[in-house]
Amino acid sequence: METVVSGIRPTGNLHLGNYFGALRNFLTMQNEHNCYFFIADYHSLTTHPTPGDLHGNVRQILVEYLAAGLDPEKATLYIQSDVPEVAELYLFLNMNAYIGELERCTSFKDKIRQQPENVNAGLLTYPTLMAADILIHRATKVPVGKDQEQHLEMTRTFGNRFNRLYNVDYFPEPQAFNFGNELVKIPGLNGSGKMGKSEGEGNAIYFADEPEAIRKKVMKAVTDSGPTEPNQARPDAIQNIFQLLKVVSAPETYNFFDEMYNTCQIRYGDMKKQLAVDMIAFTEPMRERIKAISADEAYVSKVARLGKEKAQENASKTIREVREIIGFKRF
Ligand code: TRP
Repeated sequence: METVVSGIRPTGNLHLGNYFGALRNFLTMQNEHNCYFFIADYHSLTTHPTPGDLHGNVRQILVEYLAAGLDPEKATLYIQSDVPEVAELYLFLNMNAYIGELERCTSFKDKIRQQPENVNAGLLTYPTLMAADILIHRATKVPVGKDQEQHLEMTRTFGNRFNRLYNVDYFPEPQAFNFGNELVKIPGLNGSGKMGKSEGEGNAIYFADEPEAIRKKVMKAVTDSGPTEPNQARPDAIQNIFQLLKVVSAPETYNFFDEMYNTCQIRYGDMKKQLAVDMIAFTEPMRERIKAISADEAYVSKVARLGKEKAQENASKTIREVREIIGFKRF
């Protein structure tokens, strides 16, 4: 059994792409491993120092992940800022993290370009905070995408450096948990290859979207003037719509429009109408669960309290041992 840690940044609602990306795999992992899933609200301050509704955003993510099937009895589901032990480990790790290696980090260089007016120390030390998230549970596996591999490599560096400096074998080396081809790629609606919040307005279908909003987004999806020859290759934007049909519609529906395309009889308006109907039906159960869970104040609080308790039990043990190793002793 592995100890798994993964953080979710509280930036926006859950969309179809998130679900078919990491989330579906979290649902399997929680049955097989000792999983810690948390909402990275400390991290969000590195880009949004004065968030509009931090609590509301964090709560919404928690609700949506519960609605998707994360089970607080199986996994430890918690909010990062509920476990200040993470901040203490971050402090210790920062003492042995070098400015040079932090400055060379790709995500830092990207952020400098994106927010030149706010290049703060938290941004520079984002990788040490992420290392603290992982090392606080002495995790062995971290389910991350390609974009996070460098951060994971730095986590190993910081953990190994700690072990070497204090001559201990305390932190294990966390490895990436790769889902490989189990990931279903969900394209966006505006012709872009990937569904995502940062890909522009109307590109993503959120589970919390009302049916009318979904219908509007689908009807606005980018198309072209249609095929002119039988069995013509499909341009990306059209292929995207077919891919979405494949995920949310019945196979017969997909085959019907596939046939219509190949025989140059397709009417994109009809295809999008059908996609909208099927998309609304597909997201319906999740939308209803989100509403029901969100309305249950007592349940949401209970989940957050339980997560805090379980995460802190493990985190405080690590901090106690780390203090001991460094040489902080009780008087
Ligand atoms: N940096 C991750 C992201 O942007 C979020 C994250 C923070 C994380 N701490 C983590 C992921 C620890 C895995 C483990 O998606």
